Formats: sequence, structure tokens, C-alpha cells
Amino acid sequence: MESIITNKWTVKGKYVVITGATSGIGLATAKELAIRGANLGLVARNQTKATEVVNRINTLTGNSTTVDVFLADMASQQSIRQVAAEILARCPKVDVLINNAGALFETRQLTVDGLEMTWAVNHLAPYLLTTLLLDRLKESEQSRVITTASHGHKMAKKGIDFDDLSAEHLYSFPKKFFGGPTFRYAETKLANILFTAELAGRLEGTGVTAHCFDPGLVSTNFNQNNGLLARLTMSVMKIFSRSPEKGAETLIWLADSDEITIHNGSYYTDMQITIPSVPAQNMEAAKRLWEVSKEQIQYSDTINKE
Ligand SMILES: NC(=O)c1ccc[n+]([C@@H]2O[C@H](COP(=O)([O-])OP(=O)(O)OC[C@H]3O[C@@H](n4cnc5c(N)ncnc54)[C@H](OP(=O)(O)O)[C@@H]3O)[C@@H](O)[C@H]2O)c1
Repeated sequence: MESIITNKWTVKGKYVVITGATSGIGLATAKELAIRGANLGLVARNQTKATEVVNRINTLTGNSTTVDVFLADMASQQSIRQVAAEILARCPKVDVLINNAGALFETRQLTVDGLEMTWAVNHLAPYLLTTLLLDRLKESEQSRVITTASHGHKMAKKGIDFDDLSAEHLYSFPKKFFGGPTFRYAETKLANILFTAELAGRLEGTGVTAHCFDPGLVSTNFNQNNGLLARLTMSVMKIFSRSPEKGAETLIWLADSDEITIHNGSYYTDMQITIPSVPAQNMEAAKRLWEVSKEQIQYSDTINKE
């Protein structure tokens, strides 16, 4: 947790793999990182949207950086495994992995793997993609894994309910009408922070560091998948929201800082280390999360060995 990166670092010329860059915070980040000279691997589920993003970035940079597209649905473990294999085949180096794709689901949905959707997309997908790309990340002299968490993790006051990982309780009556899905989302964002802390500890001395951050309340396409009421609520919340560019600032800073010291395993808000909620500091829960995640992705390599 306490190791510090002090070497000079810039994202210029680095290869950055980023999920969720077809919209919102991820899109703003991808554009700015490309302007700063990063080469990008966009992991997206929609080819048309991804192509539009590539065209926008190429226009911004005058084609001065590489922008690759890798298609994957982060709700499918097979899709994530396939995209990781493609990235490994096409990219001789990965310097930064940004796990940013995320969503909230008002109704309980199961993935093709039989897992609750919010958990699968927001937590297990970053866990699996990171695990699969880790050896390539380790090959760079220094590299970073950055995960988009949220202040919303604070709503999971009791921590992650390990006895109900499929969230049946939160999505059943009456909870589902009284914030259950939002509490579920909060659990996944808490998982992002615990995952980062545990990953950082496991990677001590490898040159790979792990960081996460809260973008604030940001005006994006978030929650647009949840019907009219959710869309109306988001419209009202836009009044209090930041722009995607503002929401992306800390992420860009974490990816590109050339002089600051970045603490391995920490959670950041507005470019400052922030103490997350008490459950988010529970390293026993972080270890437990790691073990259950390993079971849920049915994957094991050296990082998973004690
Ligand atoms: N907005 C906020 O106020 C806020 C606050 C705190 C944290 N966050 C976090 O910020 C991150 C980005 O969200 P955002 O606000 O920028 O929302 P957004 O505009 O909806 O962007 C979400 C991105 O994730 C992608 N995505 C979602 N599900 C996917 C899947 N199954 N497979 C592949 N890609 C998928 C989306 O792809 P498509 O374009 O194809 O839909 C999109 O690129 C999320 O992790 C969210 O939890 C947001």
C-alpha cells in the first residue's frame, strides 16, 4: 500500500488499454490521453460507436497516435477472455490498463455466465481483464492499473454481502423499490476499491501499481438504460453534475502524472488521496473478495497464488 512511484513518467508514447471509452468519462479520458500522445486500445462492445470514437480522436490528433479497437462485452467472461487474447496478440506492450466500463441495472439480470449483471460488469470484468493482461503489464518497466470507482461505494455501509453475491435480496420486494439496485451498484464500487487495494499488495515489487478514483457526479449516459424514471432523475441530476471532461481529470492525472507521487493501492478524489468508507478499508474483506472473484471467474495464475 505504501510503495511510491517517483520516476519520471508521462503517458506520451505509452500504450493504454481502456474500457468504456465510447461514452462519458472514458471517452473524455481517451480523447485527452491521445492528445497527450498516448496510443490507445479501446475495448468496446459496439463497433459503430468505437469507430466514431476512433475517427474523433484521429481528427483531434491528426492521426499522430495509434487507436486500436478491441470488441468485447464486459458482461461475458468468454468475450473478455477472447479480447484479452487479442490484445496480447496485437500489443507488444501495455503500460496502462483503465477499467472504466460500468453500469447500474434497475432490474435483476443474469449474464451468460449466470452471474448478476452489475457485479459481473463492474467488478468481475475488471478483475478478469486485469488478471489476463497482468503478465504483459509486468513486462513494462512501470505500469498502472486504474479502476473507476465511485463515492457511491459509501452507500454499502455494511460492506459486501458475501452471503448473497447474486443480490437476490436487494432485487426482491420490497428492497427493489427502495434503493436495492443502487445499493447493489454501491457494493460493486466498493469492490473496485477493495480490488485495487488487494491488487496493489499482491503486485508489490513487480513495477505494476494499482489505483482507483471517484470522478464525482458526472453528466454522462450513465443510468440511461433504466427506463423513463431513471432518465428523468438523471436529467435533474445533470444540473448538479460535472462535465465528462471534469469527471475525467483525476483519471487522466493518474495515467499521466510525471512528477507527483502516486501511492500504490490508494483511492483518489480530485487528484487527492481520499480515505474511503470503513468497509472499503477492510483488508480481510479485500482478501475474501479476491478469493470469491477467483472462483467466479474460474481462473488461476501466478497472481492468484498466495
Ligand atoms: N457518471 C457518474 O456520475 C459516475 C460517478 C461515479 C462513478 N462512475 C463510474 O464511471 C464509469 C463510467 O461511467 P460513465 O458515467 O462515463 O457512464 P456512460 O456514459 O454510460 O459510459 C459507460 C461506458 O461503459 C461501457 N459499457 C457498459 N457496459 C458495458 C459492457 N457490458 N461491455 C462493454 N462496455 C460496456 C459503455 O459502452 P456503450 O457506449 O456501448 O454503452 C460506455 O462506454 C463507470 O464505471 C461508473 O460506475 C460514474
